[in-house]
Amino acid sequence: MKEDLVNILASIVGEENVKSDIIDRYCYSMDASIYKSIPDVVVFPQTTDQVVEIMKLANTNEIPVTPRGAATGLCGGAVPIEGGIVVDLTQMNKILEIDLDNFCVRVEPGVIQLQLNQELKKQGFFFPPTPGSKKMCTIGGMISTNAGGMTAVKYGVTRNFVLGLKVVLASGEVLSLGGKTLKRSLGLDLTQLFIGSEGTLGIITEALLRIIPLPEETAVIVAPFEDINEAAKAVNSVLNHTIPTAIEIMDRGIIKAVNAYVPELNLPEVDALLYFEIGGTPEEVKKQTELIVETCKKHKSNNVQWTSDPSEKQMLWQGREAAGGAIMNLDKRLVRVYEAEDVCVPISKVPEMVKRFQEISKKYGVPVGLYGHAGDGNIHSGVLIDVRNPEEWQKLKKLTGEVYETAMSLGGNISAEHGIGVLRAGWMDRILGEGLHYVKKIKKVFDPKGILNPGKLGI
Ligand code: LAC
Ligand code: ZN
Repeated sequence: MKEDLVNILASIVGEENVKSDIIDRYCYSMDASIYKSIPDVVVFPQTTDQVVEIMKLANTNEIPVTPRGAATGLCGGAVPIEGGIVVDLTQMNKILEIDLDNFCVRVEPGVIQLQLNQELKKQGFFFPPTPGSKKMCTIGGMISTNAGGMTAVKYGVTRNFVLGLKVVLASGEVLSLGGKTLKRSLGLDLTQLFIGSEGTLGIITEALLRIIPLPEETAVIVAPFEDINEAAKAVNSVLNHTIPTAIEIMDRGIIKAVNAYVPELNLPEVDALLYFEIGGTPEEVKKQTELIVETCKKHKSNNVQWTSDPSEKQMLWQGREAAGGAIMNLDKRLVRVYEAEDVCVPISKVPEMVKRFQEISKKYGVPVGLYGHAGDGNIHSGVLIDVRNPEEWQKLKKLTGEVYETAMSLGGNISAEHGIGVLRAGWMDRILGEGLHYVKKIKKVFDPKGILNPGKLGI
């Protein structure tokens, strides 16, 4: 990038908030996916006005701009694949307002999920969407990918908690969208359009989020099943009576991997392990616990464990929390690649999806462990390959294609909560069909020169 443009950026955000040497730029070339691309410059705005000035400069000079939060994304959404400017929003990290009379908070995009919830806890409230990366991920990133997580089965995903947004468009124009009312019947909803748009339509610089009171008590139940079909029946039967805060599942491969990673957990190596979390008043928790334990027993789960003791709860959750990191232990010579890792099927199809995924994995000789959010049909996979071998990449591509086609044939989709980014961009015409044509037109309306996060979402 021309030096004078870097100097103008420095005059907008301050010299200390621009990084243009190669080491810094390299650090901002990746997220948690397989993709890498070095930007020309990284800027750290502190205010909406600065983002406006950055966008005006980029638009005039037709420079690609990639917004970035904590870069925990798994699909390359924050990777600047056409170079240009990375706009890192992590320094815009203030909680601007906690409005308990209207049950909402106004935050900057760089606020971290866990930090927000630590603040809200002091007031007896919380913001429910909880991705696995809650300790690091930013609210801006969560909105950009419509992140879900464990609590989605009960509360819904990020989309369901966004009341309003402030967005800077490619032109530098600022849109203030939505507001504090819980209901609005006002025609097309632009706030919702920006959610999940992965930084391709504008840069979020403020968000108004709905919050709800924390449950008085919570409990965790862990149930092992020798047959995954029985586990699925137990989930279905529980959901006929009550909606737990979380219903998580791990298959035999993941359980083995977790045991190799944290041997002291000594999880039972069964076909499927279910985790339930419930919350409410002590009476409600007691009643729900009894219901879930009895249901699991009825579906042939022996040795169901449950507790409402805080440190025991943490102990029980350790298995599921270790799942992502443990996968490498399935075969230490291989590397986990984030492919085919976020399909979603109607919940009655979870056992079939798991079975067919395991068959596809056997067919290609690619080891896999499956885990995820059984309560909303969202299955994560840890697939392992020898990354030095090009043939393994070919096999992985075929495996991914079959997994996606299987998910779609069961009435599901290819990404529940991680997003599209670069990883799945090539699938968008298959997913949206004719709809992609209209999505491309929408993109043109907001970003006619195509400078915002180019190369993503297939648009
Ligand atoms: C999880 C992430 C991978 O559920 O979405 O752990
Ligand atoms: Zn997940």
